[in-house]
Amino acid sequence: MKIEGKEYRTIWFDDKNKIVKIIDQTKLPHQFIIKDLKTVKDAINAIKTMEVRGAPLIGATAAYGLVLAILKNNDQSFLKKSSEDLINSRPTAINLKWAIDRMMKKLSGINSNEILNLAINEAKEICEEDVKFCENIGLNGLNIIEEIYNKKKDTVNILTHCNAGWLATINWGTATSPIYHAHKKGIKVHVWVDETRPRNQGANLTSYEFNEEGVPNTIIADNTGGILMQRGEVDMCIVGTDRTLSTGDVANKIGTYLKALAANDNNVPFYVALPSSTIDWNIKDFKDIPIEERNSEELSHVEGLDENNKVKKVLIYPKKSKALNLAFDITPAKYITRLITEKGIHKPSRIEIKKIFS
Ligand code: MRU
Repeated sequence: MKIEGKEYRTIWFDDKNKIVKIIDQTKLPHQFIIKDLKTVKDAINAIKTMEVRGAPLIGATAAYGLVLAILKNNDQSFLKKSSEDLINSRPTAINLKWAIDRMMKKLSGINSNEILNLAINEAKEICEEDVKFCENIGLNGLNIIEEIYNKKKDTVNILTHCNAGWLATINWGTATSPIYHAHKKGIKVHVWVDETRPRNQGANLTSYEFNEEGVPNTIIADNTGGILMQRGEVDMCIVGTDRTLSTGDVANKIGTYLKALAANDNNVPFYVALPSSTIDWNIKDFKDIPIEERNSEELSHVEGLDENNKVKKVLIYPKKSKALNLAFDITPAKYITRLITEKGIHKPSRIEIKKIFS
């Protein structure tokens, strides 16, 4: 998708210099900086500090992290250790483990020089597949938006939480892909963008990428969605996910659950968009999903532009206060209208999900 009119992806391999390039998302929206990842440690650090974030993009970065590991040392024991360190860099998004497992399936036991090319090709393939899957999610989700538009004959108001946009994937996004497809088709859409405290992925990333693509959007404080739904100003909600159980229960950015409850109370359809790489086939009970707890400084401090256009970080809480920063919550399947995947539109039930994907 575009930034200042130029097409970008969120991550790519520089074949000439054998390094990985990313858009540093901790600097958006005020600075657009392309950063080099040269070592597996750089990749781990980029995931931990959220220079790259969003489930599919974390997975792709981990895959390229293994490429960088091999460039340093193609010994199998180093590869195994690197894959464990990458998997442990963030706990909730299952795509991380999914991508590492897929890479290791190709690379385990290979001791020849061929291993580097195998790794590069597989990491590129993971990215290409994600682009294709996100495009298909968009085409499937487009039908839902179009149906509302045909009935309403007026702008479709869509609420989204966090950033499940192209910046969270390689291109298109998951939750945003149907919106981009609708917008490109000339269907009038307007998006309510949840700010998404504490890291403000909605305000800093989702609104930013919509602006760059010309999609009308309005940032709202996280607690505003409820009253908008009561006033009939939300036609549908659509969010992404970091881990979807085969039961249809969904882990996503903290606050997603509360939006789903409000949507349920107001008969607003609540959709979750995901590629199949986000399905966890092992965990049966959502209480077993690991929920990331991040540094409380993400809550107590905010960053923005000062009067001299310089980025500045300031403390907004009483110095003595404690703060709890849980990064994800769980939305039970009963509050989800449908899951939208690359394969189609599905009821969030074990039977439907198994039928389609296993
Ligand atoms: O903490 P983040 O910014 O990595 O969280 C991202 C989300 O919660 C997204 O909704 C999710 O990863 C889906 S991305 C297509």
